[in-house]
Amino acid sequence: MRIEAAIVNRNRDDTPANQMTPCIWPIEGESIHFEYEKAALLGEGGQKCCWKITSRDVAGDFVLLEYRYPSSLHDDRFLEYDDCDKEYAYHQAHEVAEINSDKEITILKRLRGLVGALQLQRVIQCKGNDFRPQIHAIVDFHNRGNLKEFSTQNISLSTREKLGMAIDMMKGLCSIIDNKIYLTDIKAENILLDDTSGRLTATICDFCNADILEDFTIDDKKHNLECLLDIIRRDIFKANYNCDVDNIIQYDRNAEDICLRDFLYKLVGALNNVA
Ligand SMILES: Nc1ncnc2c1ncn2[C@@H]1O[C@H](COP(=O)(O)OP(=O)(O)OP(=O)(O)O)[C@@H](O)[C@H]1O
Ligand SMILES: [Mg+2]
Repeated sequence: MRIEAAIVNRNRDDTPANQMTPCIWPIEGESIHFEYEKAALLGEGGQKCCWKITSRDVAGDFVLLEYRYPSSLHDDRFLEYDDCDKEYAYHQAHEVAEINSDKEITILKRLRGLVGALQLQRVIQCKGNDFRPQIHAIVDFHNRGNLKEFSTQNISLSTREKLGMAIDMMKGLCSIIDNKIYLTDIKAENILLDDTSGRLTATICDFCNADILEDFTIDDKKHNLECLLDIIRRDIFKANYNCDVDNIIQYDRNAEDICLRDFLYKLVGALNNVA
């Protein structure tokens, strides 16, 4: 089934396609026409569904981040409300989805062009008769799924591959913190893997629960680093503590300040020394 960008909520209701008017915002001077087909559901959380899509309008595979806007007043989630409360609940649910999509898209825009962070390709807006506009995002597809699934497959990785992934994640974290973004949901499910370049790369995704901070404290920085290191140890190096990555970066959690780029340079140095 081919669908226009305007009917991204098609999977959750029976609204005919022609009831929606496409209104698409490409990020930078691209064609405004964008037609796509949902190929597979990749993941589903409280705030959005992630669909692999294909499109004749662009080469390659992409992912639609479809935020959970209510589809209409007749959405299943309003079944127990009477008509008056239903309308209020609908507007509230719409507002929540708007806040979530707006926040993640704002963050994805800040991270454009930066290695180690999910890349936004387009922002699409959908309009319908009795609907308020819905905003969704199109991002790059990563062909090896998330690190959690990958680590349960017990695939053996070379030291070069492990360090390469740790470097990608550290680069991602540097960019994220440089942009005053504080991650509250760092976990292996939110690290995407890809090997289309011939190298296994790791990318940080899922910014729905992240916070944009004006004042980033050392403790915030340390907290994000420590969460990321836990994943690197457990899901990449398969170790609980004191693994190769600890020996390389020599992170002192009691230090008064830390420089993530120093850790990054140490990891790159270690990679260059691998035979
Ligand atoms: N760009 C992508 N390429 C490949 N797989 C993806 C991509 N984006 C998401 N996925 C898959 O979907 C899963 C869920 O994505 P994500 O973490 O962004 O959303 P979520 O946790 O389901 O949503 P919520 O924000 O509602 O908590 C990922 O763990 C991954 O397996
Ligand atoms: Mg997630």
